[in-house]
Amino acid sequence: TQDTKLTEFEDNDQNPVGFGRMLRKEDARLLRGRGRFVDDVQLPGMLHLAILRSPFAHASIVSIDTSAAEASPGVKAVVTGETLKGLGLAWMPTLSNDVQAVLATDKVRFQGQEVAFVVAEDRYKARDALELIDVEYDVLEPVVDVRKALAPDAPIIRTDLDGKADNHVFDWETGDEEETNRVFAAADVVVKEDIVYPRVHPAPMETCGSVADFDPVEGRLRLWSTTQAPHAHRTLYAIVAGLPEHKIQVIAPDIGGGFGNKVPIYPGYVLSIVGSIVTGKPVKWMEDRSENLISTGFARDYIMRAEIAATSEGRILAIRTNVLADHGAFNGTAAPVKYPAGFFGVFTGSYDLQAAHCKMTAVYTNKAPGGVAYACSFRITEAVYLVERIVDTLAYELRMDPAELRLKNFIQPDQFPYTTKTGWVYDSGNYEPTMRLAMEMAGYDELRKEQAEKRARGELMGIGIAFFTEAVGAGPRKNMDILGLGMADGCELRVHPTGKAVVRLSVKTQGQGHETTFAQIVAEELGIPPADIDVLHGDTDNTPFGLGTYGSRSTPVSGAAAALVARKVRDKAKLIASAMLEVSVADLDWVKGAFQVKGDPGKSVTIQEIAFRAHGAGDLPDGVEGGLEAQICYNPSNLTYPHGAYICVVDIDPGTAEVKVRRFIAVDDCGTRINPMIIEGQVHGGLTDGVGMALMEMISFDEDGNCLGASLMDYLIPTALEVPDWETGYTVTPSPHHPIGAKGIGESATVGSPPAIVNAVVDALKPFGVRHADMPLTPSRVWDAMRGQATPP
Ligand code: CDP
Repeated sequence: TQDTKLTEFEDNDQNPVGFGRMLRKEDARLLRGRGRFVDDVQLPGMLHLAILRSPFAHASIVSIDTSAAEASPGVKAVVTGETLKGLGLAWMPTLSNDVQAVLATDKVRFQGQEVAFVVAEDRYKARDALELIDVEYDVLEPVVDVRKALAPDAPIIRTDLDGKADNHVFDWETGDEEETNRVFAAADVVVKEDIVYPRVHPAPMETCGSVADFDPVEGRLRLWSTTQAPHAHRTLYAIVAGLPEHKIQVIAPDIGGGFGNKVPIYPGYVLSIVGSIVTGKPVKWMEDRSENLISTGFARDYIMRAEIAATSEGRILAIRTNVLADHGAFNGTAAPVKYPAGFFGVFTGSYDLQAAHCKMTAVYTNKAPGGVAYACSFRITEAVYLVERIVDTLAYELRMDPAELRLKNFIQPDQFPYTTKTGWVYDSGNYEPTMRLAMEMAGYDELRKEQAEKRARGELMGIGIAFFTEAVGAGPRKNMDILGLGMADGCELRVHPTGKAVVRLSVKTQGQGHETTFAQIVAEELGIPPADIDVLHGDTDNTPFGLGTYGSRSTPVSGAAAALVARKVRDKAKLIASAMLEVSVADLDWVKGAFQVKGDPGKSVTIQEIAFRAHGAGDLPDGVEGGLEAQICYNPSNLTYPHGAYICVVDIDPGTAEVKVRRFIAVDDCGTRINPMIIEGQVHGGLTDGVGMALMEMISFDEDGNCLGASLMDYLIPTALEVPDWETGYTVTPSPHHPIGAKGIGESATVGSPPAIVNAVVDALKPFGVRHADMPLTPSRVWDAMRGQATPP
């Protein structure tokens, strides 16, 4: 029942009303410097907040003397954890039902933790005053090596938790252990590999910040904030701060990239609110680059033992894994409550297995909290990396071509909807055509020939393949919520008398083009040109409730809501059209943008004429209210499961061990494509992220817990220089349960590209007998691997 379109080229390029390659509406504003970001907000009398951060990873606070800072010119307030304690605000809940210190009271638990703050007339005076705060610390031994966090003599980090006698956060498991062990015991071949996905950081171009404006007379709080989830944040502020929810307005203006970094509530946001309440003035907090890198949500940090069982002919039978997860000092992982390891359960990938099992232990360490989904749907990146690396090691051991091994084991089209051995129901998929298209675009056979010739000459060329299935669009509220809030999203649509429209969303773009694509969805359904449809988002006073944008959920959830709300409006328009044309509803045909009398195309009314009639003089049909608008709250019935085939070609300089990504072919299948140009942009960005993670990026720490990735000099992120011209293609396998058949795309490339690149590097190093090397594959690490000295990070 699946209809997969297979093509490298667009067939909907020039569709003026609806889906197609349309330039971004928001760019008129963003490209001309008229975007309005949090740091652009200037309010009369606004003060500035700076945060004093811990220089130590683990230390007791003996005393804090703020008197010199308070006397510093221009300083309006200095606040410590003790003050917050008095207000009941020293601790706040994290997204994972842990608690996190807003300002440290008893001790600091990671370098960069918030200890005190200053509010002053300008940001320079605020920062200068930080220098005058005298904190006496009693330095404690830190827990830096995650492998030693559960040792009996390890220092206890979370002494704040009642009765806590170790650094254990949670144990989690999925799949059938007994059955998996049975399949493993009977298998011809078992391959085992230790695989590390290092700690990386989303590092959005705009750092985090907020402007809080508390009006004590009305008891109203306005908060401009860099948030990907304004409604969820509003509810949490209401719960944490005890402010009535209807008196809180959260405004997320333009956002300069989020990538998951702007999902959690950070102490800085709360401190700006406290600062405004204390001073009676608006207060702005804007972190700098180092603050963003050392204290806000990191991603990954999984140490994974992976095992794969197969027949000697290459039929994959089972996968099992044991994971040690570093959650930092507070468990701030962003994931639906019932999924402490996010969507890691999808580690069975795109293959039809007999059994699978995963065991995970999460621990506290003296590092920044996080575990955010960096351009990924809740740990799906780790899952895809695990399966695509271990499948390649199997190919290595079986001396099989990695493409052939994958093709042999794919879930087949007639098996969808497919339930994995860990209980996920893949909605649709047709993997072989996607893989074949990528191989054809790459010229796979010729590449292998070229590689053989080069190897004979001692040159190092590698070809890496990754095939991924993602799980995006969290999620069905029957089993997905964040802190008790169901993961559904609202949408409202209003058509004005002249046929122009406004659609209001609960999700929040951070640069991915929602103002265009959501207008296109409504345009496709109603026939109103996208230019006539305004998309409003990011202001809780003007948009319906919903859980926000992350995990590529906007299109799967709110995209569905936008289509359905437009259909609701169309249903009402039909009743009005039947009265206008004096025929029964059954006698009307919808042709995009108008209702026509069946068999008499000359008799029709456009959606614009209907809109005027809906608001105009004269009676409407019985039971039809005036106006042309609707609202909806969409609760998805399942996630959507996009897939893709990526092929990477690398050359390695044998003298310097530098890796150059020469070619990268990405074929994605995200179901129905709303705007192919925006999709390509999303894919290009994600692939670039992948180059960063595979080759350059890692937040590392020294043995004292000092963060060594505190600036973009040390934490390298890729530029145009490190990436090739991306070669993209696509197939279309619509989602059967999504009203327009669309699946998410925002993060596919970030998820799928690291294994393709690493597989290519390892393939290039095959002559050295290398079967695995851990990211980031910097020249020194590749050099070590070439010499058989690879050590995990
Ligand atoms: O949640 P987020 O917006 O980050 O991810 P997404 O839903 O995958 O959408 C990313 C961008 O690609 C949005 O502008 C979408 O509307 C667009 N998109 C598309 O044009 N067609 C799809 N099938 C999926 C997304």
